[in-house]
Amino acid sequence: MKKVFAVLVTGLFFFTPLIVQAADDIGPLPALSEKDAPNPKQVEMGKRLFFDRRLSGDAGVSCADCHNPKEGFTTRKPLSDAYPGSKHWRNAPTLLNITYKKGGFGWDGRLMDLDDMLRDMITDSMNMNMDMQIMQERMKQDPVYVQHGKDAYGDKNMGTSQKGEVTHYVVRNALIQFLKTLTPKSPFDKGNLSAKAKEGMELFKGKAGCIQCHSGTYFSDGKPHNTGVPENPEVFKDPMRHFTYTAYMMFMGVDNRMNWRRDIGYYTISKDRNDIGKFITPTLRELKHTAPYMHNGTLATLDDVIEFYNMGGGKDRPGFKDASVKPLGLTAGEKEALKEFLLSLSGDPVMIEAPKIDMDYKPIPDWKTAKN
Ligand code: HEC
Ligand code: HEC
Repeated sequence: MKKVFAVLVTGLFFFTPLIVQAADDIGPLPALSEKDAPNPKQVEMGKRLFFDRRLSGDAGVSCADCHNPKEGFTTRKPLSDAYPGSKHWRNAPTLLNITYKKGGFGWDGRLMDLDDMLRDMITDSMNMNMDMQIMQERMKQDPVYVQHGKDAYGDKNMGTSQKGEVTHYVVRNALIQFLKTLTPKSPFDKGNLSAKAKEGMELFKGKAGCIQCHSGTYFSDGKPHNTGVPENPEVFKDPMRHFTYTAYMMFMGVDNRMNWRRDIGYYTISKDRNDIGKFITPTLRELKHTAPYMHNGTLATLDDVIEFYNMGGGKDRPGFKDASVKPLGLTAGEKEALKEFLLSLSGDPVMIEAPKIDMDYKPIPDWKTAKN
């Protein structure tokens, strides 16, 4: 009897992780529920806001400058552009399908809510360096937004007692509604996989083990892992990038911040030394349009990424790298098949024309090349 019990208990421990994984299998993205479906008027307002540089402190930077629709909603540079006077130390992630992300926003997963992430994007000094109240007052001076507010939020009061007023809650909500429309359908979603891509999918779930972290319909477990991605030396060679990074660490209350010569990732949030170098698993959707890859853009192509995993990931101090990242022994044909599967997760580019925005004052002409 005792023996049977012991076997049962061991069996439970052994099988639990397998059961969890099966529940989170990959699959096509579900349609948004009626409750979540975006309201077209709110989307229209959000689209204009997305391209509007007046959301930033100097009226020179818009969301679209770093999440450019023509570039897969990123910058396509290893390290993102940043607000004048700072330089970014991370890659700008795509916003395609962001509405399906369940939390862990930012490469280090510092926020669990999209609305909070947008607040940070607007107020952080390295992104848009804007004050929420000033932004709100600025938007209210534009008759187009006043009309948008009435049309799209006329039956709601968000942050004030006056229905339809353009508050900063309304601005962020409209942006969130716009982001809901960035959901291209891939061949994978349409059940349209070539024989080679199907072979790649089997490798993804089996021999290559990618599904251990890139799971669910968004192809992410939403958790932090250390895969040993090499540092981008630019971050430490360029004093302004390094300064922007240390300023961020100071803001986040990280110890010993002047001495780090690596991106510490999730440690910034948890302050647990086991989390050094962990980053939130990103989605694998739309990779065709978003190279270069990883939190610091150090892997230029999908071939580089596959080679990286085939070699067992990068290097880190013993015990730091995730145990599930180990040499895979994929043949040349298997690597091709895996790549074919990854490419089948990308749809056609989402083309969104920038709306014409009249401003009664001139923004800084070209913030990207402006001398700091
Ligand atoms: C100056 C460049 C810049 C601007 C402007 C900018 N972003 Fe970002 N955005 C980034 C970078 C870089 C990150 C990654 C930050 C990190 O991991 O620390 C990011 C992250 C995000 C994320 C989290 C993505 C994820 O997968 O977790 C969202 C959502 C987002 N931005 C939306 C916006 C919106 C909406 C705007 C406009 C209100 C905006 N961003 C403006 C550079 C920018
Ligand atoms: C242990 C969890 C884990 C496993 C297993 C894993 N990944 Fe990842 N993957 C991650 C994390 C975490 C990142 C982000 C790492 C970083 O930026 O430092 C990532 C990043 C990527 C990226 C870059 C995406 C982007 O937008 O920059 C690609 C592509 C990718 N993985 C593909 C794969 C493939 C293919 C496999 C299987 C061979 C795989 N991954 C296995 C966790 C994992």
